[in-house]
Amino acid sequence: MSQDLDSIVDAARQSFAQAATPAQLEDAKAQYIGKSGCITELMKGLATLSVEEKKTRGAAINQAKQAVEEALTQRRRALADAELEQQLQAEALDVTLPGRVREPGGLHPVSLTLERIEQIFASMGFDVADGPEIESDWHSFTSLNNPPNHPARSMQDTFYVDIQGEDGIAYNLRPHTSPMQVRYAHAHIKRHAAALKAGDLPEIRVIAPGRTYRVDSDATHSPMFHQCEGLWLGKNVSFKDLKVVFTDFCRTFFESDDLALRFRPSFFPFTEPSAEIDIQFQSGPLAGRWLEVAGSGQVHPKVVSNMGLDPEQYIGFAFGMGPDRLTMLRYGVNDLRLFFDGDIRFLRQYR
Ligand code: DAH
Repeated sequence: MSQDLDSIVDAARQSFAQAATPAQLEDAKAQYIGKSGCITELMKGLATLSVEEKKTRGAAINQAKQAVEEALTQRRRALADAELEQQLQAEALDVTLPGRVREPGGLHPVSLTLERIEQIFASMGFDVADGPEIESDWHSFTSLNNPPNHPARSMQDTFYVDIQGEDGIAYNLRPHTSPMQVRYAHAHIKRHAAALKAGDLPEIRVIAPGRTYRVDSDATHSPMFHQCEGLWLGKNVSFKDLKVVFTDFCRTFFESDDLALRFRPSFFPFTEPSAEIDIQFQSGPLAGRWLEVAGSGQVHPKVVSNMGLDPEQYIGFAFGMGPDRLTMLRYGVNDLRLFFDGDIRFLRQYR
């Protein structure tokens, strides 16, 4: 190969080597063997030569062209390899890294308490019912012998909802689960209409746990909190049954056979007589103190009649307790707000 062809091939090799991407490489190629690349131009120049010269010069140019093509192919391959290598590195999996553990979720401590309450009462033959949190004024108060403008309503400072029912009555976020007494009784009577007519209504035995709302907020009160209503109504259900059932429940719930209970006279519009229920642990950090856990009483005849039943025939007891309070006592938590702050570091201790 002549001097000029050698230096063209060298220059081509160099510029291919400098091309950092396939696009740059194709640009460099065009300068040598493209349509108007310098080797292509030399080919075109052959036309003016004699047959003899054409042969030798032509062969030499061809050789140079082949050398350039070879360099091109090599560089193409090298660039492709480099690209692949880069991609592999970027997508590399380090199989020696520790796995990403997905932690199992858990139940909220108050949910654990609600499940526990439901289990214990279910074992005593109680049904578990659910009801609306946006409740009518009638169900929240009036049906429970707490008429409009009665001062007893202020015991439950309430969130009123700015909507009116078809009948023009006001709605509120229920301040207690007690509306479930009348709601459940109505559903029960509907289901057992024939039996009721025959004077043979099955007993009502139900608990109704759920969220309740009041205008209240401090370490032991939250505007949203939980209650669990209980109702046992039949032809011969007495205050004694309330004592037995609730004592049994508390001792099972706290796993403490010597837990003491005290029924302290009180007032609720929907019960007569009424009692607050206090419990006392005999050991542990709370031993000796009386702790209020529920309100209760014999269902008031007016409420029985609002249920659609004859208060001369049907009698029983009701109670309303605070599952949040029970959770605090069971786990020794002294600030109710911890339950509802949503801090996972606190909540994950329970599950
Ligand atoms: N509803 C009452 C409250 O929120 C609690 C209560 C007291 C419920 C006595 C009852 C009951 O069923 O009999 O303060």
